[in-house]
Amino acid sequence: MTTSKRETSIEISKEEFKKTGYQLIDSISDFIDTIDTKPVTTGESPKEIQTILGIDSLPETGASVSEIISKATGLLLNHSLLNGHPKFLGYITSSAAPIGALADLLAASVNPNVGANILSPMATAIEKQTIKWLAEFIGVSPACGGILVSGGNMANFTAFLAARTAKAPKNFKEDGLANTDGDMVLYCSKTTHTWIEKAVVLFGHGTKSIRWIATGADNKMNNEILVQTIKNDLQNGKKPFMIVATAGDVSTGVVDDLAAIAAICKNYDLWFHIDGAYGIPAAVIPELNTMFEGIQEADSIALDPHKWLYAPLEVGCTLVKNPQHLIDTYSSHPVYYNFSTTDDEPSLNYYEYGFQNSRGFRALKVWMALQQIGRSGYIHLIREDIALSEFFYEEARKHPELEAVTQNLSITTLRYVPSGFAGNENYLNTLNEKLLNVLQTAGEVFLSNAVVFDKYCLRGCIVNFRTSRKDIEEIVEIIVREGRKLHEQLQADF
Ligand SMILES: Cc1ncc(COP(=O)(O)O)c(C=O)c1O
Repeated sequence: MTTSKRETSIEISKEEFKKTGYQLIDSISDFIDTIDTKPVTTGESPKEIQTILGIDSLPETGASVSEIISKATGLLLNHSLLNGHPKFLGYITSSAAPIGALADLLAASVNPNVGANILSPMATAIEKQTIKWLAEFIGVSPACGGILVSGGNMANFTAFLAARTAKAPKNFKEDGLANTDGDMVLYCSKTTHTWIEKAVVLFGHGTKSIRWIATGADNKMNNEILVQTIKNDLQNGKKPFMIVATAGDVSTGVVDDLAAIAAICKNYDLWFHIDGAYGIPAAVIPELNTMFEGIQEADSIALDPHKWLYAPLEVGCTLVKNPQHLIDTYSSHPVYYNFSTTDDEPSLNYYEYGFQNSRGFRALKVWMALQQIGRSGYIHLIREDIALSEFFYEEARKHPELEAVTQNLSITTLRYVPSGFAGNENYLNTLNEKLLNVLQTAGEVFLSNAVVFDKYCLRGCIVNFRTSRKDIEEIVEIIVREGRKLHEQLQADF
């Protein structure tokens, strides 16, 4: 007699799924509840980690699910760097909203392929709503379209190619770069994130196509130099096609003068792109409206829910004022696709909006967090992160052995300056670099670095809803304590 169920080694029975699932949830909830009591990092070397992991070869036969889950849980919860720790202020990686973990579990269980509407009817509708909400959140027209991607690099790449299609010579799609004689050029400030270099290399323009515009004393793109550079290029027969403005630069958090750049784009018929991967969620805060004036004019915006909206990795977003530009760039219709429209409204197939065909359900964790927290909840959280960063700056400014260097949005830069060593730049750069290396492995706090006005600085970026004023006070004490120790050591070695 044939049975309807196939016996396989991959299925997990309902009872076993529940048992191991509940155990996993127990471990995760304990982990989250006690995260502040753990070291930020164990500081284990790659070699030590490899030893802990073991050098098992590819399994030939299967093992029990509960054993696998229990081993993976132990490895990850006990040997990871915890960016959810209240004293993690490194790079721009947020503490992840716990609802995101539940969202990812649900998303993976249903496993919709959000490349085509027919394969993911509800998930596609949720992604569409999420994108509309993100646009509303930052204050641009909810009529603009977009797509969720893996992060900031991809969000910027996705927009870069849309800009190129929109502004390139007519037959660009057929002739490619051969049609442009290498003349297409673009503009961005010196502080722009490295994605721009990857983009021009990967997409065939070469690094010479970038016009790096100097920044002023305020670290913003110098718009006079920008205009002069565009004029020179036009005189020399070049074809300017886009300006990249930054809303929250990766090192110091500065927002370019967006309204002025928007006007320049209009004047010279250039695509206006804003890299707001880190900073643009702060546009939700009413008192920062002036800082973000001009974002409504952008042709495209990159923003990263996995940064300041506290979504677990990975999720970025490209917003485009006119979504047709994405379709013009990415749409193709292979014969083996049957994703045609079945009713009056054309179906929304996200494979036509970006790089991927098969796509996961990234939207769910963002959609859920936006509902759990709400606009006013986010205003509160982001405002607090900024206030904590200002507090960090103030504490550094008041301390005789610290130099507070910059503070913008939620990024503070500072350095340790032993008494009598002010102005000794070479020594201070060496000392602070070594200090950062000590801090990054000791497990009490995690900061990263920035080089600002040629000063090697410690950099704290607070996209962390768990950080408190007490954490900041303790971080200042740790920096000074370790700075003193290191300075004494260096002086003794000298
Ligand atoms: C301004 C800016 N743009 C782009 C990126 C790249 O984002 P991702 O690392 O998610 O690719 C970053 C990362 O920190 C950033 O700060």
